[in-house]
Amino acid sequence: MTPNVRRPLVSGNWKMNHDHIEALHTVRDLGLRLKPADVENVTVSVHPPFTDLRTVQTLVEGESLPISLGAQHCSDLDSGALTGEVSPVMLARLATSYVIVGHSERRQVFSMTDECVGSTLRAVVRNKMTPICCVGETAEERERGKTEAVIERQLTAAMDGLSSEEIATVVVAYEPIWAIGSGDPASTVDAEDAASFIRSVLVQQSDVSAGERVRVLYGGSVNAENAGEFAAEEDIDGVLVGGASLDAKTFADIVRAVGACYRS
Ligand code: 13P
Repeated sequence: MTPNVRRPLVSGNWKMNHDHIEALHTVRDLGLRLKPADVENVTVSVHPPFTDLRTVQTLVEGESLPISLGAQHCSDLDSGALTGEVSPVMLARLATSYVIVGHSERRQVFSMTDECVGSTLRAVVRNKMTPICCVGETAEERERGKTEAVIERQLTAAMDGLSSEEIATVVVAYEPIWAIGSGDPASTVDAEDAASFIRSVLVQQSDVSAGERVRVLYGGSVNAENAGEFAAEEDIDGVLVGGASLDAKTFADIVRAVGACYRS
């Protein structure tokens, strides 16, 4: 059983799905399904597209739903001539709590570099929000035995310039790229090995206390059947869910499965 020094987090990354009307229905449904006992030991965040954020914020605040607002990305600058970008200052003004930084789709499709992941992470921290920093290897890197080298390189750039106290507040999501959207999740053993390695790298970059406090999530083909198995692992403190977070019933089942691992 994982010691409860780290409050588990279940985050739903909607990617480019659900317009603001669908978001309203989904979050209202989720709010009705989540009972106080379900969220007693677990924090829940949803990460809708930018166009939905104001709608979801109004709903969550108006109905006091036990759901934190999250974004999927933001600029590394607070303001400027950056057509199409979204400022972390504006996200903070919307009471956004969590921002996903360096998702593999941003790295691969939008050429986000390790350095840009680092500057974006610092921008999120500077604006008093919590980054969920994604790391993980491709299938080819895994086959070549490069998993740990890739994770270490990504983490080193991501945490550059942060104090130990700041590192302690970051969430890191281990998302092996081959497991995303494939229906083929990592084994719990491989996921725990990666999570434990992530923690050891963070201890080196900060100190033991900060490394122990960082929450590490697993992401990649998580569903209601396997979520509890990942969360039961020693170094895994929750899950980052893509496709299975789009349906309120399935996502609520995932929250309950994770919460069940932390009840004494
Ligand atoms: P899936 O859960 O759809 O595999 O997506 C994982 C992911 O990318 C979450 O950020």
